[in-house]
Amino acid sequence: MPVVTVNRKAHFNAAHRLYNNEWSDDRNADVFGKCANVHYHGHNYELIVSVTGEINPQTGFVMDMKILKDLIKSEIEDYFDHRNLNEELPEFKTLNPTAENISVVIWEKLRTKIDTKLALKITLYETPRNFVVFTGN
Ligand code: NI
Repeated sequence: MPVVTVNRKAHFNAAHRLYNNEWSDDRNADVFGKCANVHYHGHNYELIVSVTGEINPQTGFVMDMKILKDLIKSEIEDYFDHRNLNEELPEFKTLNPTAENISVVIWEKLRTKIDTKLALKITLYETPRNFVVFTGN
């Protein structure tokens, strides 16, 4: 059967601070810029979850989009939305909540819930012009 990618967009707002606690404030400011602000700041994250696989001949679907929608809502939006990532999510206790690391955490959370026959790709926009892609490698 043909291999097709289905995509679902989602959105969450979250606060973070990027820093390395082994570095001075000056060095953190040099490397992370405004994202090192000790008082935190927010981003409007835009997420695209892409699932690739063969079309199921019985349904015509790669994956039921209603199931994917509900999964993203319960596992990602409800978990990340309006959170302080550094302070509230255990994943980021010691992991810098960069777009790169957030995309890996999202991938890991969804990977356990989606059929392993299907490939999973996460695209995460931190700003309208800055985005990352993670495919599990
Ligand atoms: Ni930031």
